[in-house]
Amino acid sequence: MSSQADARRITAPQIQARKGGEPIVSLTSYHAHTARLLDRHVDVILVGDSLGMVMHGMETTVPVTVEMMIVHGRAVVRGTKRALIVVDLPFGSYEASHTEAFHTAARVLKETGAGAVKLEGGRRMAETVRFLVDRGVPVMGHVGLTPQAINTLGSFKARGRDDAEASIILDDARAIAEAGAFSIVLEAIAEPLARRITEEVAPPTIGIGGSPACDGQILVLEDMLGLGDRVPKFVKKYANLGPDIEKAVASYADEVRARTFPSAEHTYAPRLVEKPAKAS
Ligand code: KIV
Repeated sequence: MSSQADARRITAPQIQARKGGEPIVSLTSYHAHTARLLDRHVDVILVGDSLGMVMHGMETTVPVTVEMMIVHGRAVVRGTKRALIVVDLPFGSYEASHTEAFHTAARVLKETGAGAVKLEGGRRMAETVRFLVDRGVPVMGHVGLTPQAINTLGSFKARGRDDAEASIILDDARAIAEAGAFSIVLEAIAEPLARRITEEVAPPTIGIGGSPACDGQILVLEDMLGLGDRVPKFVKKYANLGPDIEKAVASYADEVRARTFPSAEHTYAPRLVEKPAKAS
């Protein structure tokens, strides 16, 4: 049964209704354990295709497959009860036609139990967004830096810093909004542009390297926890778990080599079984 049957789940229309209201809190998660930890604190959990780079060591998100998104999406749905789960449609699974996009989105929703999908692209994807929304698929848009287009963009640098590029991105956001997206991610764009888009479009904007004026914010969990080596300028590290994990692993390795782990405290003693007294 879809997780959305659970009355406590936040829905896409509820997120859409948060325009200009209480900021929407969102993070990525790719597995049940972290999703469970996030669930009480965030409104939206995105199973982003960034999992290809973060979890699987890929150089870009381009090689990520629908099957990978489904495996991770399912795990995140299983680990949560409350947050809206949004699953990214990966590169090559939705761009060719509206019907391809619908079949992929329907498969993702059916097989994960998630409540919405996200896809990248502005005007060129607007008709597809309309097609999906009309057929019961809530869509989160994504404009600005769109990492799936890395091979044509050439770099992960911020977008919309000059007037010409800013006006293209503004038109992209308008098109996706008019097509019926319930929210739009604005990634790595100049602050005044993110603010302007947020003021102009009807659905809430969710910034990642956008503006504090956005209706919500999202970060990649591993980046904000300090697990990544190199992170973009827009990431604030709320913890520095990378060095902590390495320290813990080094201590474990030392103790195993010194035979001080496991100690008595972590070792099972035999169960004492009382022997019945022998009949005389
Ligand atoms: O894949 C992802 O994690 C994303 C976020 C960066 C918004 O699309």
